[in-house]
Amino acid sequence: MKRIKIGVLVSGWGSNLQAIIDNIEKGALSVDLAVVISDQADAYALERANKHNIPAVSIGPKKNTPREEYDAVVVAELRARQVDLVCMAGFMRIITPVLLQAYPDRVMNIHPSLLPTFPGLRVQKKALDHGVKFSGCTVHFVDEGMDTGPIIIQAVVPVLDSDTEDVLAERILKQEHTIFSRAIQLFAEGRVTVKDGRVFVQGHEGRNNDVLINP
Ligand code: GRF
Repeated sequence: MKRIKIGVLVSGWGSNLQAIIDNIEKGALSVDLAVVISDQADAYALERANKHNIPAVSIGPKKNTPREEYDAVVVAELRARQVDLVCMAGFMRIITPVLLQAYPDRVMNIHPSLLPTFPGLRVQKKALDHGVKFSGCTVHFVDEGMDTGPIIIQAVVPVLDSDTEDVLAERILKQEHTIFSRAIQLFAEGRVTVKDGRVFVQGHEGRNNDVLINP
């Protein structure tokens, strides 16, 4: 099977990027990381890429430039690197149809809640404020909405009485590091299809007794 090339879009710390790099190096993820692109020149994620000799590009948005123009520059970079799949790993920009049409059903995002609950920012705080007993993370294909689009994979974690926003965020982040690579690997194996807004994973029927109760 052809090894696909991925491009990872980042804005900051890059722990999800690191997990992807580590999984590729361990052989657990069979893709080539063709380029890391950041909209922030000082993102630590760029240093992570450099340390592993992965092409790292900073594309800073220019003042008063329409989002579409910014995305066109990103698309040109991705195409020049022959990227097949785009992975948004803590990329803090809203993307436009320019990118989505260049990569239809080929832009993934990781989000630290069980979507469609709690889209947006500071979602761990929202989970605590609402008193939900479970939260988690979601990898989904990106569409034109905000944190919407077909859901590929989710991981669930309990919310504990003693949790602070940071403690819950850390518990969720740990699972993000697992499920993003898993989603990418399933895609790379050609097992992911999107139909009527739902994602189906070939060869994974699941079990109907996976129940979680908390407390
Ligand atoms: C993660 O929680 C991700 O879900 C969200 O931004 C955070 C990025 O973390 N979109 P990192 O930069 O990968 O460490």
